[in-house]
Amino acid sequence: MGKHSPIGVFDSGLGGLTVVKEVRSLLPGEDVVYFGDIARLPYGNKSPEAIRRFSVENSLFLIEKGVKLIVVACNTASSLALDFLSRLFSVPIVGVISPMETALRKKNYRKVAVIGTSATIRSGVYQELIHRLLPDCRVMAQPCPLLVPIIETGAFREEIGEEVIRHQLKEVKAFSPELLLLGCTHYPIIEGQIRRFLGCEVVSSAHYTAQAVERTLRDLGLKRERRKGRGTLRIFVSDVPDGFEELAEMFLGERLEGVSVRRSQMCFT
Ligand code: DGL
Repeated sequence: MGKHSPIGVFDSGLGGLTVVKEVRSLLPGEDVVYFGDIARLPYGNKSPEAIRRFSVENSLFLIEKGVKLIVVACNTASSLALDFLSRLFSVPIVGVISPMETALRKKNYRKVAVIGTSATIRSGVYQELIHRLLPDCRVMAQPCPLLVPIIETGAFREEIGEEVIRHQLKEVKAFSPELLLLGCTHYPIIEGQIRRFLGCEVVSSAHYTAQAVERTLRDLGLKRERRKGRGTLRIFVSDVPDGFEELAEMFLGERLEGVSVRRSQMCFT
C-alpha cells in the first residue's frame, strides 16, 4: 500500500457514487475502487449489528483490492460502524458525517434539520454533532425511508415522486429550518426538488468528504503526485439490478464508458 494504491469507497448501493464524483473532481489523478452492496440494499432499515457486519465485509473486500484509504460513502454505515471499522483495520477510514462540520461552522445557525434513513436518525450521530458545534441551535431530525426507493426506481422524476418528497418533508417544512443537512448519499439527486419545496439552504457532505479525503492523504503522505490523464475507476457490485447503468451514470454524473464494472465474487451469509 502506497501513494499509487487506489482509494476504496463503499456504500449500500449506488448512492455513494455521488461521493466518488466529488473525489474524482477534487483528486482527478487518484484511482478509485468502488463497492456497491446492491444485493443487500437498503441498509437504512437494518439492525446496527447487521450494518456493522456488512461494513466489515465491504471493507475487507476493498482491502483485498489493495486500497490505501477507505471512504464509507454511506451515512447509515458511517453512523453505526465507523468507530468499529477504525478500531479493526489499520487502513485510514473516512466517513461522510464528520465532514459536515465544515458546513455547520459557516454561520451561527439557530434552526437546523437533518434527514436520513431510519437507522441514521435513530443513531443520534447527526443530532450530537449539531449540538456540539451549535449548542444554542434547535435541531429537528427526520427519518425519510421513502426517499431512497423513489431515487433508486427513478420515480422522483414523476408526479408521484414529488408527492412523496412533499409527504416525507412536511414536518421539516413546518419546522422551517435555516439549513437542511442531507444525511444520506442518495439525496443529492433530489437536492433541487428539496430546496424548491423547503426554500432553505440545503447541503450534502459529498464535497466536504472529498476535502477530508484529500487532507487525510496529504497528512499521511499518501496523496498521489500529478499524473498524466485521469485516474481509473473500477466499480464492483454485489448485484446488477434492472436499469443499473442509467442509475450509476446519474449518481456518478458521467458516462460509464471506460469504467470497469464487475459483479463481485463476495459471498454472503
Ligand atoms: N446511501 C445510504 C446512506 O447514505 C442509504 C441507502 C440505504 O438505506 O442503504 O445512508
